[in-house]
Amino acid sequence: MGPRGHGMRQSFRSFSRDSSVKNSKIAKGTFKRILKFASPYKKLLGIFLAVIIIDAVAGVINPLIFKEIIDKGILGKNTTLVVQLAFLVAGLSIFGALLSFVQRYFSARIGEGLIFDMRTKVFSHIQQMPIAFFTRTQTGALVSRLNNDVLGAQEAFTDVLSTVIGNAISVILVIIAMAFLSWQLTLISLLILPFFLLPARWFGRHLQSITREAYTLNADMNITMIERFNVAGAMLAKLFGNPKNEDTLFQERAGRVRDIGVNQAMYTRIFFISLMLTASLATAIVYGWGGVLAIQKAFEVGTVVALTAYLGRLYQPLTALSNIQVDIMTALVSFERVFEVIDLPPMIAEKKDAKKIPQEAATINLDHVFFRYPTAEEVSLASLESVATLDKTKSREVLSDVTFTVKPGQMTALVGPTGAGKTTIMQLVARLYDTTKGTVSINGVDVKDATFDSLHAILGMVTQDPHMFHDTIKANLLYAKPDATEKQMKKALEDAQIWPLIEKLPNGLDTMVGERGYRLSGGEKQRLAIARLLLKAPHIVMLDEATAHLDSESERALQKAFETALAGRTSIVIAHRLSTILNADQILVINHGKIVEKGTHKTLLAKRGLYANLYHTQFSTKK
Ligand SMILES: Nc1ncnc2c1ncn2[C@@H]1O[C@H](COP(=O)(O)OP(=O)(O)OP(=O)(O)O)[C@@H](O)[C@H]1O
Ligand SMILES: [Mg+2]
Repeated sequence: MGPRGHGMRQSFRSFSRDSSVKNSKIAKGTFKRILKFASPYKKLLGIFLAVIIIDAVAGVINPLIFKEIIDKGILGKNTTLVVQLAFLVAGLSIFGALLSFVQRYFSARIGEGLIFDMRTKVFSHIQQMPIAFFTRTQTGALVSRLNNDVLGAQEAFTDVLSTVIGNAISVILVIIAMAFLSWQLTLISLLILPFFLLPARWFGRHLQSITREAYTLNADMNITMIERFNVAGAMLAKLFGNPKNEDTLFQERAGRVRDIGVNQAMYTRIFFISLMLTASLATAIVYGWGGVLAIQKAFEVGTVVALTAYLGRLYQPLTALSNIQVDIMTALVSFERVFEVIDLPPMIAEKKDAKKIPQEAATINLDHVFFRYPTAEEVSLASLESVATLDKTKSREVLSDVTFTVKPGQMTALVGPTGAGKTTIMQLVARLYDTTKGTVSINGVDVKDATFDSLHAILGMVTQDPHMFHDTIKANLLYAKPDATEKQMKKALEDAQIWPLIEKLPNGLDTMVGERGYRLSGGEKQRLAIARLLLKAPHIVMLDEATAHLDSESERALQKAFETALAGRTSIVIAHRLSTILNADQILVINHGKIVEKGTHKTLLAKRGLYANLYHTQFSTKK
């Protein structure tokens, strides 16, 4: 098949591309930005293009040599010439093979390089996004942006280059050579083309819609698998599901993938068949008419052979070029989808003249803080949430006029009904979100003016359901303090009351914690998270206590771990446990985003207000 096979695949890919991209609007600067991305590859691109041109020219020479072999060599009974030309053909073939290798080498170097550049850029940009961005976007959509679009952009980029340049040169040279041999036959060959192109377009349109549908159906099927096979989903299915229903659902989705697969195969085949058929029909005409002319001596035999050889090099490039608009637009759109992510400004960024928070015993101060969660439009991209337009409705006020101070070394407990805004307060202190009004400051520095490094260094947080990366216990600990020694790790684990358990594991610190740390119980995971925090030894500790009721032994272990973690540190704890509120220096009762009561356990209890109420329903029954 050689170059012909490749050309056919390329035109097929081109025709199955979504032609509606022609109507998309491309931002003005996109083209320039693509050039900028490509600019490190200027030299490689230059060589690549040169190779494409040489290849196109070399491809046009061969049929002319065939003609010489037949007319001058065979018919002229000149053995030497035949042998010489045969060697020339052989040499050209070897040269062509080398060229195609070199061409692939350069297109791969450029293509993979572009992929690398774009991927690393998108990754590091997404890293800077605030947590609000991740709560809105679908992980799948993000990963697909890093994989498919980046891939599509580079594929289209190298494809378009080789298609436009290589095919354009090839077509022009072939038509010149053919017209030189016989303009009548050239004209006829060109006239046949529409008979192929029209059905190709028609099939192309069907192919596009089938390809698109196949994508969706495949995605549906994959979602079913991913949802059912992750631990949480599997658990839900086991507890509430009915395996028969699950099977039926999956069979139905897999069945549709099967059916569309058959359809797709048939349409693809028809596309190829019609392409081959046109070429064969044209060849028949040239042989027929050319042969007759050759008998009448109006033509040399070699001319007929050369013309038919050219036909093969005419249709594929022309087909590919006929769809070039779609190819170019596909490339532009893919690039644009990647740029779109890179352009999204991180809502929470470090100021240029950011100050360092003094790393010492810390005071936390919230001053008339108001907060509402940002709208989707402020933090995210519609295309990443698979919705047409982003929600602009403002969330209701989650915190209003919250003012309090936590003095160095003291513990503040937050209590209140669910949804009151307790976790939100912690997230504001860690600057996972920015306040709408009012300031949060640590050691006198507004967190909005602080460097990220100093903010991260001074505080540590343990969430209700702490996350562990799918890695060893050691690696998860080192994430908080990369230079920690084994001894320090052991100490932290001991203080967090989890060392006896880890010591007993066959692989000790090298034990893998499964996806989301699944092989640990909830209480164990929280203690491991505390160990991670102790290793970091921050001045501020924030704890969102697990609501889950623990057995008394784990409860005692957890309490001891908490005590060690909080000792001598400034802390904010969302309390679900009695011992925490009893030990707190200050208790804030939060309701509907406001601090409604403030004091110690004793004074608050005496007030007989919301706190007393909560205490009697939530805390006093738990020991
Ligand atoms: N990412 C978010 N976007 C929009 N609204 C949110 C978001 N997270 C929380 N909220 C809303 O903000 C309010 C306060 O939530 P928060 O998580 O602070 O409550 P909480 O006091 O910690 O409750 P719980 O005790 O159940 O953990 C809730 O009404 C919640 O619906
Ligand atoms: Mg909460």
